[in-house]
Amino acid sequence: MGKKVTVVGAGFYGSTTAQRLAEYDIFDTVVLTDIIDGKPAGLALDMNQSRPIEGFETKVVGVTTGPNGEGYEAIEGSDVVVVTAGLPRKPGMSRMDLLEVNAKIVRQVAENIAKYAPNAVVIVVSNPVDEMTALAQLATQFPKNRVFGQAGVLDTARFTNSIAETLAVPVKSVKALTLGSHGDTMVPVPSRCTVDGKPLSDLLPAEKIEELVVRTRNGGAEVVALLKTGSAYYAPSAAAARMAKAVVEDSGEVLPVCAWVDGEYGISGVYLGVEAQIGAEGIKKVVEDKLTDTEIAGLKEAAEAVRAKQADVASL
Ligand code: LAC
Repeated sequence: MGKKVTVVGAGFYGSTTAQRLAEYDIFDTVVLTDIIDGKPAGLALDMNQSRPIEGFETKVVGVTTGPNGEGYEAIEGSDVVVVTAGLPRKPGMSRMDLLEVNAKIVRQVAENIAKYAPNAVVIVVSNPVDEMTALAQLATQFPKNRVFGQAGVLDTARFTNSIAETLAVPVKSVKALTLGSHGDTMVPVPSRCTVDGKPLSDLLPAEKIEELVVRTRNGGAEVVALLKTGSAYYAPSAAAARMAKAVVEDSGEVLPVCAWVDGEYGISGVYLGVEAQIGAEGIKKVVEDKLTDTEIAGLKEAAEAVRAKQADVASL
């Protein structure tokens, strides 16, 4: 059977994700939904008209959804649903400032996913993502492996790009990793960064590495401050689309994602940015690797910070 993916939310993040997914040309259908009348249909028509030029056959379908779930029947049979719905932050806001407003939106979306696409794998990108992922799992009641969040692929890409620019090397020479939350307790992992196989610590002084770590942690805010309205979407959509691709291709790739952690690194019962093997069932397994004591301490600190907030979303 042909593959089907849905992207909920046709803002810049959602629409660029739909575009990337369509251009992969591995799906029969990409469904793009939004609550704004006509917007998803207009964007879908526009993307479909690019097919002869870009050379892909995937059909994009745009659907406006209503307050009582009207329109959601279009997502039936989706293998993957990417949830981008919600507000982006404005300059000066933290992702956590979006908690209450986005919780209402994400809860409603999740309930409709559970009703209309009960077998889908759900990838959450709405912010604050660690909390919205936990909420989506609660509201869908899907097995925890079938709901996970996007953050580490994006944060790692930002870290990689900064390292490559600093050392003036191709991005493909750089291997980097970030774990932890998609926020103040993000844990870029210098011990797992290499450039053409050489440890980053052999190439840059510790203060410079720390500067890159801090820039990575503030990567989203840096873009928000420049844009002045809205938040980043090119790198975020690239990350989300790659994760959806790994699911439908059952690739088994190991990617840093916001996954349910159950004992790894001595941490349990929380959605947190860790490396995980991705496949058709969502998370195949969380992959625990060697970290320094400082990095493990950072991961534990992140776990406690998001645990407290994830407990709050149950009542939102
Ligand atoms: C960012 C948002 C999407 O980091 O969380 O750009």
